[in-house]
Amino acid sequence: MSGGEEQRAEFGTVATWTAEVVGELGDEYAIVAGCRGSGDPGLLEWLARSCGVGPGVSLVDVGAGVGGASAWAAEKYGVRPVLVEPMEDACRAERRIFGRTPICATGDRLPFGEGAFDVAWCIGVLCTVHDKLALLRELRRVLRPGGSVGLLVLVAEPGLHSELPRGNEFPSLDELGDLLGQTGLSIRELREAPGGGEPAEWRQKAEHVDELLAKAHGDDPRWLEAEEQSSRLAHLLTSRQLTRRLVHAVKS
Ligand SMILES: C[S@@+](CC[C@H](N)C(=O)[O-])C[C@H]1O[C@@H](n2cnc3c(N)ncnc32)[C@H](O)[C@@H]1O
Repeated sequence: MSGGEEQRAEFGTVATWTAEVVGELGDEYAIVAGCRGSGDPGLLEWLARSCGVGPGVSLVDVGAGVGGASAWAAEKYGVRPVLVEPMEDACRAERRIFGRTPICATGDRLPFGEGAFDVAWCIGVLCTVHDKLALLRELRRVLRPGGSVGLLVLVAEPGLHSELPRGNEFPSLDELGDLLGQTGLSIRELREAPGGGEPAEWRQKAEHVDELLAKAHGDDPRWLEAEEQSSRLAHLLTSRQLTRRLVHAVKS
Protein backbone atom coordinates (compact mmCIF):
# COMPACT_ATOMS: atom_id res chain seq x y z
CA MET A 1 0.00 0.00 0.00
CA SER A 2 1.39 3.37 -0.97
CA GLY A 3 1.35 6.02 1.70
CA GLY A 4 3.27 3.55 3.90
CA GLU A 5 2.46 1.66 7.07
CA GLU A 6 3.56 4.62 9.14
CA GLN A 7 0.79 6.73 7.59
CA ARG A 8 -1.95 4.18 8.20
CA ALA A 9 -2.92 5.71 11.57
CA GLU A 10 -2.96 9.22 10.18
CA PHE A 11 -4.79 8.59 6.90
CA GLY A 12 -6.69 5.39 7.72
CA THR A 13 -7.71 4.99 11.37
CA VAL A 14 -8.24 8.70 11.97
CA ALA A 15 -10.42 8.79 8.83
CA THR A 16 -12.68 6.12 10.37
CA TRP A 17 -12.88 8.06 13.63
CA THR A 18 -13.60 11.29 11.70
CA ALA A 19 -16.60 9.63 10.05
CA GLU A 20 -17.89 8.62 13.51
CA VAL A 21 -17.52 12.20 14.78
CA VAL A 22 -19.42 13.59 11.77
CA GLY A 23 -22.16 11.04 12.50
CA GLU A 24 -22.37 12.47 16.00
CA LEU A 25 -22.14 16.18 15.12
CA GLY A 26 -24.22 16.23 11.94
CA ASP A 27 -23.75 16.88 8.22
CA GLU A 28 -22.97 20.56 8.70
CA TYR A 29 -19.59 19.42 10.04
CA ALA A 30 -18.85 17.09 7.12
CA ILE A 31 -16.80 19.34 4.82
CA VAL A 32 -14.73 20.89 7.60
CA ALA A 33 -14.03 17.46 9.10
CA GLY A 34 -13.29 16.05 5.65
CA CYS A 35 -10.72 18.82 5.01
CA ARG A 36 -8.87 18.11 8.25
CA GLY A 37 -5.90 16.83 6.17
CA SER A 38 -4.85 19.99 4.39
CA GLY A 39 -7.61 21.95 2.73
CA ASP A 40 -9.15 25.22 3.82
CA PRO A 41 -11.56 27.49 1.94
CA GLY A 42 -8.90 30.05 0.90
CA LEU A 43 -6.66 27.58 -0.84
CA LEU A 44 -9.54 25.58 -2.31
CA GLU A 45 -11.03 28.78 -3.76
CA TRP A 46 -7.70 29.57 -5.40
CA LEU A 47 -7.38 26.07 -6.85
CA ALA A 48 -10.98 26.07 -8.13
CA ARG A 49 -10.67 29.46 -9.83
CA SER A 50 -7.21 28.86 -11.29
CA CYS A 51 -8.23 25.50 -12.74
CA GLY A 52 -11.60 26.78 -14.05
CA VAL A 53 -13.66 24.32 -11.98
CA GLY A 54 -17.40 24.58 -12.61
CA PRO A 55 -20.51 22.70 -13.72
CA GLY A 56 -19.75 20.41 -16.65
CA VAL A 57 -16.01 20.40 -15.93
CA SER A 58 -14.64 16.91 -15.20
CA LEU A 59 -12.45 16.85 -12.07
CA VAL A 60 -10.46 14.01 -10.56
CA ASP A 61 -9.23 14.41 -6.98
CA VAL A 62 -6.24 12.09 -6.49
CA GLY A 63 -5.33 11.21 -2.90
CA ALA A 64 -8.70 12.59 -1.87
CA GLY A 65 -8.48 11.50 1.77
CA VAL A 66 -12.02 11.43 3.18
CA GLY A 67 -13.20 13.73 0.38
CA GLY A 68 -13.59 17.15 2.02
CA ALA A 69 -11.99 19.14 -0.80
CA SER A 70 -14.13 17.46 -3.46
CA ALA A 71 -17.29 17.93 -1.42
CA TRP A 72 -16.42 21.61 -1.02
CA ALA A 73 -15.92 21.95 -4.81
CA ALA A 74 -19.20 20.13 -5.51
CA GLU A 75 -21.15 22.39 -3.15
CA LYS A 76 -19.48 25.66 -4.12
CA TYR A 77 -18.80 25.16 -7.86
CA GLY A 78 -21.40 22.60 -8.93
CA VAL A 79 -18.80 20.12 -10.15
CA ARG A 80 -19.13 16.32 -9.84
CA PRO A 81 -15.67 15.10 -8.92
CA VAL A 82 -14.28 11.59 -9.26
CA LEU A 83 -12.30 10.64 -6.16
CA VAL A 84 -9.26 8.38 -5.97
CA GLU A 85 -7.75 7.30 -2.65
CA PRO A 86 -5.52 4.29 -1.83
CA MET A 87 -6.32 3.90 1.88
CA GLU A 88 -9.33 1.60 2.29
CA ASP A 89 -10.34 3.06 5.66
CA ALA A 90 -10.39 6.54 4.13
CA CYS A 91 -12.51 5.26 1.20
CA ARG A 92 -15.02 3.76 3.63
CA ALA A 93 -15.06 6.99 5.68
CA GLU A 94 -15.71 8.99 2.52
CA ARG A 95 -18.70 6.80 1.66
CA ARG A 96 -20.04 7.18 5.17
CA ILE A 97 -19.59 10.96 5.37
CA PHE A 98 -20.50 12.06 1.84
CA GLY A 99 -22.27 9.03 0.37
CA ARG A 100 -19.80 8.93 -2.53
CA THR A 101 -17.98 5.87 -3.77
CA PRO A 102 -14.32 6.67 -4.31
CA ILE A 103 -12.01 4.57 -6.45
CA CYS A 104 -9.53 2.79 -4.23
CA ALA A 105 -6.23 3.17 -6.14
CA THR A 106 -2.84 4.83 -5.99
CA GLY A 107 -2.13 7.90 -8.07
CA ASP A 108 0.71 6.31 -10.03
CA ARG A 109 -1.68 3.83 -11.71
CA LEU A 110 -4.92 5.63 -12.36
CA PRO A 111 -7.69 3.46 -13.81
CA PHE A 112 -8.71 6.01 -16.48
CA GLY A 113 -7.97 6.50 -20.16
CA GLU A 114 -5.75 9.20 -21.55
CA GLY A 115 -7.33 12.65 -21.61
CA ALA A 116 -10.32 11.64 -19.48
CA PHE A 117 -10.45 14.81 -17.33
CA ASP A 118 -10.37 18.59 -17.67
CA VAL A 119 -8.85 19.09 -14.21
CA ALA A 120 -6.82 16.97 -11.77
CA TRP A 121 -6.35 17.95 -8.13
CA CYS A 122 -3.72 16.49 -5.87
CA ILE A 123 -3.88 18.26 -2.53
CA GLY A 124 -1.21 17.57 0.07
CA VAL A 125 -0.30 14.24 -1.53
CA LEU A 126 2.97 14.71 -3.43
CA CYS A 127 5.03 14.97 -0.22
CA THR A 128 3.65 11.63 1.03
CA VAL A 129 4.80 9.82 -2.13
CA HIS A 130 8.32 8.62 -2.97
CA ASP A 131 8.00 8.36 -6.77
CA LYS A 132 6.68 11.85 -7.43
CA LEU A 133 7.46 11.71 -11.14
CA ALA A 134 5.26 8.61 -11.62
CA LEU A 135 2.35 10.34 -9.87
CA LEU A 136 2.72 13.57 -11.85
CA ARG A 137 3.02 11.64 -15.13
CA GLU A 138 -0.24 9.84 -14.39
CA LEU A 139 -1.98 13.11 -13.55
CA ARG A 140 -0.79 14.50 -16.87
CA ARG A 141 -1.79 11.36 -18.80
CA VAL A 142 -5.41 11.46 -17.62
CA LEU A 143 -5.75 15.17 -18.51
CA ARG A 144 -6.99 16.39 -21.88
CA PRO A 145 -4.51 18.64 -23.76
CA GLY A 146 -4.65 22.07 -22.11
CA GLY A 147 -6.19 20.56 -18.95
CA SER A 148 -5.21 21.90 -15.53
CA VAL A 149 -3.45 20.37 -12.57
CA GLY A 150 -4.01 21.96 -9.15
CA LEU A 151 -1.55 21.01 -6.42
CA LEU A 152 -0.89 21.81 -2.80
CA VAL A 153 2.70 20.84 -2.04
CA LEU A 154 4.66 21.23 1.17
CA VAL A 155 8.06 22.48 0.08
CA ALA A 156 11.36 22.08 1.97
CA GLU A 157 13.03 25.44 2.60
CA PRO A 158 16.84 25.68 2.59
CA GLY A 159 17.12 25.73 6.43
CA LEU A 160 15.13 22.53 6.97
CA HIS A 161 16.69 20.68 9.93
CA SER A 162 13.98 19.46 12.37
CA GLU A 163 12.67 15.91 12.50
CA LEU A 164 10.25 15.14 9.68
CA PRO A 165 6.89 13.42 9.99
CA ARG A 166 7.51 9.75 9.14
CA GLY A 167 6.92 8.69 5.54
CA ASN A 168 7.13 12.21 4.10
CA GLU A 169 9.62 13.42 1.51
CA PHE A 170 9.37 17.13 0.87
CA PRO A 171 10.76 18.48 -2.42
CA SER A 172 12.61 21.79 -2.54
CA LEU A 173 11.12 24.52 -4.72
CA ASP A 174 13.73 23.82 -7.41
CA GLU A 175 12.99 20.08 -7.31
CA LEU A 176 9.27 20.78 -7.64
CA GLY A 177 9.89 22.97 -10.70
CA ASP A 178 12.14 20.29 -12.23
CA LEU A 179 9.57 17.54 -11.59
CA LEU A 180 6.82 19.54 -13.29
CA GLY A 181 9.12 20.38 -16.20
CA GLN A 182 10.13 16.72 -16.68
CA THR A 183 6.47 15.73 -16.63
CA GLY A 184 5.48 18.16 -19.38
CA LEU A 185 3.33 20.31 -17.12
CA SER A 186 3.78 24.06 -17.66
CA ILE A 187 3.53 26.13 -14.51
CA ARG A 188 0.97 28.92 -14.90
CA GLU A 189 1.21 30.08 -11.29
CA LEU A 190 3.07 28.92 -8.22
CA ARG A 191 2.46 30.82 -4.99
CA GLU A 192 2.50 30.41 -1.28
CA ALA A 193 -0.83 29.26 0.15
CA PRO A 194 -2.60 31.78 2.36
CA GLY A 195 -2.29 30.74 6.01
CA GLY A 196 -4.72 30.95 8.89
CA GLY A 197 -7.35 32.95 6.99
CA GLU A 198 -10.22 30.52 7.36
CA PRO A 199 -13.56 32.00 8.52
CA ALA A 200 -14.24 31.86 12.30
CA GLU A 201 -17.12 29.42 11.81
CA TRP A 202 -14.85 27.03 9.88
CA ARG A 203 -12.14 27.25 12.57
CA GLN A 204 -14.66 26.66 15.38
CA LYS A 205 -16.07 23.60 13.66
CA ALA A 206 -12.56 22.21 13.05
CA GLU A 207 -11.71 22.73 16.73
CA HIS A 208 -14.92 21.00 17.75
CA VAL A 209 -14.13 17.99 15.57
CA ASP A 210 -10.60 17.82 17.04
CA GLU A 211 -11.94 18.03 20.61
CA LEU A 212 -14.34 15.14 20.05
CA LEU A 213 -11.65 13.03 18.36
CA ALA A 214 -9.25 13.64 21.27
CA LYS A 215 -11.98 12.95 23.84
CA ALA A 216 -12.93 9.64 22.24
CA HIS A 217 -9.45 8.40 21.29
CA GLY A 218 -6.93 10.52 23.21
CA ASP A 219 -5.40 7.46 24.94
CA ASP A 220 -5.19 5.32 21.82
CA PRO A 221 -1.59 4.84 20.60
CA ARG A 222 -2.78 5.37 17.01
CA TRP A 223 -4.20 8.78 17.95
CA LEU A 224 -0.96 9.66 19.75
CA GLU A 225 1.02 8.60 16.69
CA ALA A 226 -1.15 10.72 14.37
CA GLU A 227 -0.87 13.67 16.77
CA GLU A 228 2.90 13.30 16.85
CA GLN A 229 2.94 13.48 13.04
CA SER A 230 0.68 16.58 13.08
CA SER A 231 2.72 18.40 15.69
CA ARG A 232 6.00 17.77 13.79
CA LEU A 233 4.34 19.18 10.69
CA ALA A 234 2.92 22.19 12.56
CA HIS A 235 6.38 22.98 13.97
CA LEU A 236 7.99 22.76 10.54
CA LEU A 237 5.37 25.09 9.10
CA THR A 238 5.40 27.70 11.87
CA SER A 239 9.21 27.81 11.83
CA ARG A 240 9.03 28.10 8.01
CA GLN A 241 11.29 25.11 7.45
CA LEU A 242 8.41 24.01 5.22
CA THR A 243 6.08 26.25 3.22
CA ARG A 244 2.75 25.40 1.61
CA ARG A 245 2.80 26.05 -2.13
CA LEU A 246 -0.12 26.14 -4.50
CA VAL A 247 0.52 25.23 -8.11
CA HIS A 248 -1.58 25.67 -11.20
CA ALA A 249 0.02 23.90 -14.15
CA VAL A 250 -1.27 23.00 -17.58
CA LYS A 251 -0.76 19.96 -19.83
CA SER A 252 1.30 21.32 -22.72
C1 LIG B 1 -2.36 14.79 3.68
S1 LIG B 1 -3.55 13.67 3.04
C2 LIG B 1 -4.49 14.77 2.04
C3 LIG B 1 -5.88 14.29 1.77
C4 LIG B 1 -6.76 15.23 0.98
N1 LIG B 1 -6.23 15.48 -0.35
C5 LIG B 1 -6.97 16.52 1.72
O1 LIG B 1 -6.46 17.55 1.26
O2 LIG B 1 -7.63 16.52 2.75
C6 LIG B 1 -2.63 12.71 1.85
C7 LIG B 1 -3.46 11.64 1.17
O3 LIG B 1 -2.69 11.05 0.11
C8 LIG B 1 -3.00 9.67 0.08
N2 LIG B 1 -1.91 8.97 -0.63
C9 LIG B 1 -0.77 8.44 -0.14
N3 LIG B 1 -0.06 7.84 -1.11
C10 LIG B 1 -0.75 8.00 -2.26
C11 LIG B 1 -0.55 7.60 -3.62
N4 LIG B 1 0.53 6.91 -4.00
N5 LIG B 1 -1.49 7.92 -4.53
C12 LIG B 1 -2.58 8.64 -4.17
N6 LIG B 1 -2.82 9.05 -2.90
C13 LIG B 1 -1.93 8.74 -1.96
C14 LIG B 1 -3.12 9.30 1.54
O4 LIG B 1 -3.79 8.07 1.74
C15 LIG B 1 -3.88 10.50 2.09
O5 LIG B 1 -5.27 10.31 2.02
